[in-house]
Amino acid sequence: MRVLGIESSCDETGLAIYDDQRGLLADALHSQIELHRDYGGVVPELAARDHLRRLVPMAREVLRRAALGAEDLDGIAYTAGPGLVGALLSGAAYAHALGFALGRPVIGVHHLEAHLLAPLLDAPNLAPPFVALLVSGGHTLLAAVEQIGQYRLLGETLDDSAGELLDKVAKLLGLGYPGGPAIEALAGAGRPGVVRLSRPMLDRPGYDFSFSGLKTQALQAARGAANDRQAQADLALELQTSVIDVLVTKARRALSETGFQTLVVAGGVSANRSLRAACATLERSQRVAVHFPRLAFCTDNGAMVALAGAIRLRAARATGLAITARARWPLDELEALPR
Ligand code: KG4
Ligand code: ZN
Repeated sequence: MRVLGIESSCDETGLAIYDDQRGLLADALHSQIELHRDYGGVVPELAARDHLRRLVPMAREVLRRAALGAEDLDGIAYTAGPGLVGALLSGAAYAHALGFALGRPVIGVHHLEAHLLAPLLDAPNLAPPFVALLVSGGHTLLAAVEQIGQYRLLGETLDDSAGELLDKVAKLLGLGYPGGPAIEALAGAGRPGVVRLSRPMLDRPGYDFSFSGLKTQALQAARGAANDRQAQADLALELQTSVIDVLVTKARRALSETGFQTLVVAGGVSANRSLRAACATLERSQRVAVHFPRLAFCTDNGAMVALAGAIRLRAARATGLAITARARWPLDELEALPR
């Protein structure tokens, strides 16, 4: 089964073709970072219009790269939420129009499920049960996954997401958007132990996170470090280390309490090399397996949507003619798929 995947939930237009026998055949990504730069954040109306402009040429491009015609597609998958409704609607409307014209099934995919399943693009044998740690710009959560589609929420952030924290501190440091990669680069020159930040929520049981207190501490430290590159680097390193300590400690607890031996880490922040290294240490010390998406598929992309769509279409879960675009959509509302 060959599925065209369409991601348009925020500021990235991603299209890809996934074949459940041969794997990923082609993918293309356009980032709107430049478009929104002057506004200091994503402007929803501009995002939606830009997706609309890119969808058709990018669909042609992935078909060309895969050496396929549109009629070779067996289904179309699009991100149906959570996300910016206007942006989602651009992808949803195009997906449904294409599916209708071709007479192919169309499916609306949950953005977070797509993130969590992205490691399957490179490890097709990866299967539940596993603990999932999803760390992106919009979300930070831990879930116990016993079956694909059945996501038991263990905990989530009570305020800011980990990505949001990095983005906000980076902004104050004048590092631009997205902040995560900029903090990571700056942390490379940081000296460990010079700045001290807290490790929020580690003293409490359960799996919830809270990053707003850490944000306040870091923003204060950032003001004190203005115009001092070394002090900024020291802060970036401590901030990154604090976030990683919290994420990895809670994930380790979730593994030991569920008894699961596999951890899946996904979402934009999972591109962070220090987080990946900390998880490699966890892998060795706890004798668990840790899976990440490849770097290019940690942040938003069409490949993960095509894959999640193929899995759901294989289980005959097409969405019919109704167009779906949901700003909010709890992950545990999804329907579990038969094994
Ligand atoms: O998954 P994603 O592309 O979008 C959402 O669904 O939210 O995640 C974007 C987030 C941003 O906050 C960005 O700063 C963060 O992922 N990010 C990183 C890295 N690359 C992206 N954070 C830390 N280290 C990175 N290398
Ligand atoms: Zn995302």
